Amino acid sequence: MVDVGRFGGRVAVVTGAASGLGRATAKLIAGEGGAVAALDISDKALQTTVDEITSAGGTAVAVRTDVSDPDSVASSMKEIVAQLGPPNTVCNVAGIGKFAHTTEAAFDDWQRILGVNLTGTFLMCQAALPHLLDNGGNIVNVASTAGLMGQPYSAAYCASKGGVVQLTKALAVEYLERGVRINAVAPGGVDTPMLGQFAPPPDASKRLMAKLMTPFGFVTPDQVAKAIAFLASDDGDYITGAIVSVDGGLTA
Ligand SMILES: NC(=O)c1ccc[n+]([C@@H]2O[C@H](COP(=O)([O-])OP(=O)(O)OC[C@H]3O[C@@H](n4cnc5c(N)ncnc54)[C@H](O)[C@@H]3O)[C@@H](O)[C@H]2O)c1
Repeated sequence: MVDVGRFGGRVAVVTGAASGLGRATAKLIAGEGGAVAALDISDKALQTTVDEITSAGGTAVAVRTDVSDPDSVASSMKEIVAQLGPPNTVCNVAGIGKFAHTTEAAFDDWQRILGVNLTGTFLMCQAALPHLLDNGGNIVNVASTAGLMGQPYSAAYCASKGGVVQLTKALAVEYLERGVRINAVAPGGVDTPMLGQFAPPPDASKRLMAKLMTPFGFVTPDQVAKAIAFLASDDGDYITGAIVSVDGGLTA
């Protein structure tokens, strides 16, 4: 059931919308009246998100996008503007990760994790900013506790999310005088399909792995989506350059 609330009349782009936090964010924003451009590399699951939104009376279109590919991002932005109009908010949720001892990490994994998490976020911001500057709007990036503190066996993931934190702050300052807000959320462990990508090395240290645990257990995708929607809506209209931890106190 659509409650025309904080996102009525707005166009929201949500990456990673086929799963986990992205799907929860797309559904929350559409449920509050936003027209959602749902972006992901995974076609079939993306269509499920769109079907769930439209069957509840909301508006959403699926736009297959590889956020790490500049051409894919550019053509998706054109398609979004043609189908829904220029975006008012962009939620950069798509991400990947993997545990590895740094001494054994594959270069391709390093490139891919940085390419999706950091370069993908940059490319989406760069493509959306001209529209946000023309029409007003904001960006919410998804970082991680891994962007705020060291985590074992996660050099590429930590580097990529630390990069997202600083990218968010750099853009917030750059566009401070032009009315475009850029914020990020930093979730702790969320029980989503992504956890399947994080198989600890067989000899992982239990003491070091314990550092990853949020004291109150997993955060839910809905709890993270609520923080994203808060920042993306006018509820957060004086907030920019903030990194909002949603981690049950892990980084407190
Ligand atoms: N799950 C966690 O514990 C956790 C904790 C902190 C932060 N995060 C971050 O939250 C975000 C969402 O993660 P999730 O837990 O929902 O994971 P998920 O695996 O459920 O969803 C990630 C989505 O990103 C999509 N994706 C991957 N590569 C892509 C690409 N190149 N282009 C477009 N889409 C792509 C996937 O297809 C998938 O649908 C990620 O940025 C992740 O790093 C997750």
